[in-house]
This record gives sequence, structure tokens and C-alpha cells, in this order.
Amino acid sequence: MVSAPTAIRSLDAHDAAAYQALRLQGLRECPEAFASSSEEEEPLPLVAVAERLRPRAEAIVLGGFAARPDGEALVGIVGLGRETMRKLAHKGWIWGVYVAPEARRDGLAGRLLQHALGHAATAWGLRQVNLGVNTRNAAAQALYRKLGFESYGLERGFLLLNGELHDEHQMVKVLA
Ligand SMILES: CC(C)(COP(=O)(O)OP(=O)(O)OC[C@H]1O[C@@H](n2cnc3c(N)ncnc32)[C@H](O)[C@@H]1OP(=O)(O)O)[C@@H](O)C(=O)NCCC(=O)NCCS
Repeated sequence: MVSAPTAIRSLDAHDAAAYQALRLQGLRECPEAFASSSEEEEPLPLVAVAERLRPRAEAIVLGGFAARPDGEALVGIVGLGRETMRKLAHKGWIWGVYVAPEARRDGLAGRLLQHALGHAATAWGLRQVNLGVNTRNAAAQALYRKLGFESYGLERGFLLLNGELHDEHQMVKVLA
């Protein structure tokens, strides 16, 4: 565990290298936790990663930074997207939740998600935020339940990884 993160902020193009390193670490460490894969994202040039991080009206990526002797280090990430079709535009979704092992159990994922939910409610005026979580991922399910997400569905065979099917809980948080 590291000391409490010094900052949570929306990432931008300048964070592309640090984001890509942490994202790939997550995809390699726990491939069953993400729909994407390190094989698909490793070849992405930094300009493409920078473009992904460009804050926009329908997408942001938040980062949590820990103080280190040589400066701040990105140790946690959470993506937030919003639907763009008129009749779906009251909804958003959380993706790409990852905290580096040395920064876990220190409240960082909870803080990042609270920031994301605050942005969804206040900046975007959303009514609900959805996410999916592997049914075997007890830690992430506990995290989301603690923040008020409720399970509303189960997709069997959501992921096929190394010949094995993984199911996914679909969860929703209704915003006040
Ligand atoms: C799941 C993950 C994001 C949690 O990050 P974190 O910063 O350690 O989480 P927090 O410290 O904010 O924990 C908040 C709550 O989540 C739950 N939680 C987190 N880690 C847990 C664990 N290992 N076991 C059980 N509950 C856990 C607890 O309810 C915790 O509250 P508490 O500390 O009061 O008990 C992190 O373990 C991770 O990156 N895992 C690998 C990637 C992953 O699974 N991503 C989610 C994809 S859907």
C-alpha cells in the first residue's frame, strides 16, 4: 500500500504514456476483468491513446496519482462514457477500472468512482450509470455494491478467455 493519493483528475493527452503503461499492466494482470486485451492495445501508438484521453462531452478518463519521491505516479484509472442517442442520453457507463496492486485497499477505486459518478450527475445530468463485472471478481463486486450499484442482469458467456467462458453481472447505479 502507498500513502493516500495526492490527486484525482481528468486525464488528457499529456498522460498518454503513463495511462498506456498502467492500462497494459491491468490487461496483463487480470485479463478476465476486461473486455479488451493487451494483445489488442499494445500496438496502439501513443497518439491514439492520447486521442482516447482527450476529455469530451461524452467521455472522460479519471486518474489517481500517488506521491512518490520523484514526483506523482499514476496508480489508478476509471473510464466514464455517456450514450449519445437522444433516448439513451440519460445513461452512462463505467469501464476500465484498475488500481495498481501497491495502491490497493486504500480507498482509491472508491474515490475515482465517486468522482466519476459526481461528473455523471453534475456535469452531464445523467440519471443512471451502468457497468459490467465478471461474476468471479468478488473484490470489484464488493466495491460497486458499496457505492450503491445493484445487479440487474446476468450475461452468461460474456467473455471467452483461453477457451473458458466467463459470466458477467450487469449493474446499475441510479443517480439522485
Ligand atoms: C477492484 C479494484 C479496482 C479495487 O481497487 P481498490 O482501490 O483496492 O478499492 P478500494 O480500496 O477503493 O476498496 C473499496 C471497497 O471495495 C471492496 N474491495 C476492494 N478490494 C477488495 C478485495 N480484495 N476483497 C474484498 N473487497 C474488496 C471493499 O468493499 C472496499 O471497501 P473497504 O475497504 O471498506 O472494505 C482493484 O482490486 C483492481 O484494480 N483489481 C483488478 C482489476 C479489476 O478487477 N477491475 C475491475 C473490473 S470490473
